[in-house]
Amino acid sequence: MSTSAVLVACGGSSSSTTTPPASTDATSYNTLWIPPLLPGVTVSGVTTYELTLAPSSVQFQTGAKTATYGYNGNSFWGPTLIMKKGAQARMQVKNSLSEDTTTHWHGLLVPGPVDGGPHQIVAAGSSWLTDAFTVKNNAATYWYHPHLHQLTQKQLTLGAGGFIIVQDDEEAALNLPRTYGTDDIPLMLTSRRFTTTNSVANQFQYAVTAYGDYMLTNGVMDAQVSLPKQLVRLRVLNGEIERDYNLGFGDGRTFYVIGNDGGLLNSPVALTRLIMAPGERYEILVNLSGDAVGSTLDLKSYNGADAGLSFGFAGLENATGGEFGSLINYKTFNILRINVSSATANAVTALPSTLVNNTFPNAANTTQSRTLNITAQGPGAPFTFNNVGFNMNTINQTVSSGTTESWTVSGGNIFGHSFHIHGVQFKITARNGSSSAVKAYESGWKDTFYVPINENVSFIAKFEEAAGSAYPFMYHCHMVNHEDAGLMGQFVVQ
Ligand code: C2O
Ligand code: CU
Repeated sequence: MSTSAVLVACGGSSSSTTTPPASTDATSYNTLWIPPLLPGVTVSGVTTYELTLAPSSVQFQTGAKTATYGYNGNSFWGPTLIMKKGAQARMQVKNSLSEDTTTHWHGLLVPGPVDGGPHQIVAAGSSWLTDAFTVKNNAATYWYHPHLHQLTQKQLTLGAGGFIIVQDDEEAALNLPRTYGTDDIPLMLTSRRFTTTNSVANQFQYAVTAYGDYMLTNGVMDAQVSLPKQLVRLRVLNGEIERDYNLGFGDGRTFYVIGNDGGLLNSPVALTRLIMAPGERYEILVNLSGDAVGSTLDLKSYNGADAGLSFGFAGLENATGGEFGSLINYKTFNILRINVSSATANAVTALPSTLVNNTFPNAANTTQSRTLNITAQGPGAPFTFNNVGFNMNTINQTVSSGTTESWTVSGGNIFGHSFHIHGVQFKITARNGSSSAVKAYESGWKDTFYVPINENVSFIAKFEEAAGSAYPFMYHCHMVNHEDAGLMGQFVVQ
């Protein structure tokens, strides 16, 4: 069971939930929403990305609409920012909510004052414009989301977030699908629970549970998409509050991981199942060349008893409701119905055998090691790092700029977690001390990883982005209910 420390920071009215449907398999589908692109506005060589976060609403179910948040007039989630490695960029965020927010660029290599962590508050009604920065990241899929301490779960639950796609020359030189919305599809996975009582029908029950009852793919329930009969790229983000996913296709077919959080892999990795913890991104290729036009294929999550998952996997709890249960816990459920359509002109049909040639930090250069133990004082108590809960005024670690460090995160024996750190992309070097236990698909640049129960995970990183005590970097569990409850620490790089 997931420890809880339920925060009642947001005044959500507690009430009963909707009646379970007879089956979690849809009988009808809704068209997948593809977020619009935001290429930014370039003036004098600097591209500015303007975001406005505002309240909105969505008709998720019959009855009242559900109150939500979205960026740039979208009712749930936001536009996809397109950036080019090497370009100059800056961000502008306008907060049209009646509460404070922050906007963090998850995975981007930017200095502390641009990072948008809990200290960089954009007050209700105000705007934040960052300094210009150079886009240093490799081509990959990143994302942005609020990071206000103790309101991250609420604001993410209401829909505040968006994708960032970075492009670079190495990726552009490969014959990969990259027509956005056609053969290159962003997929944000999350789930929500709705309420039925009181004057506010269908309010998100963010203060009561982290698990949703209904799968939302890009914010759409029972989503379907038409994909062409060729190699298709899916940029998958686990955008959940707490749930882990164990992805696979309904017919058991092999698919290929080509990239993860911070870049492409050296070569594709063939898989039939892929575990994703909250905050992680994987780019996968699925080959539809052999599928008949008009046929269907389901992308699913295999979170049931028969999936071979171990205790502590978030969503494996065998309960249909309550704080630690949901209608889609402990079962296989659908993420996306794919309807196969005709191939496009110039379709990519062959899987590249190699991708990029990554150079990772050299372990021999490591000058400092750190250990973070995920701890809890007992059932119901919040999770902490090394028995210390997050405090906005405490700097937990000091890193020397330009050095390479080895960090080990130990998950404890209560629950699995998702570890994320700002300001760097790292290389996972070992699981439980064994380099061979690191999965091939997580062999590239990472900024987030799954820490199963009773496991520890080691990584090395070179810390090159500066952060001082006014705007330090964070490390935390990306199960945002755990993060809001204190499973977070902060560090300076100087
Ligand atoms: Cu995706 Cu510190 O966050
Ligand atoms: Cu956690």
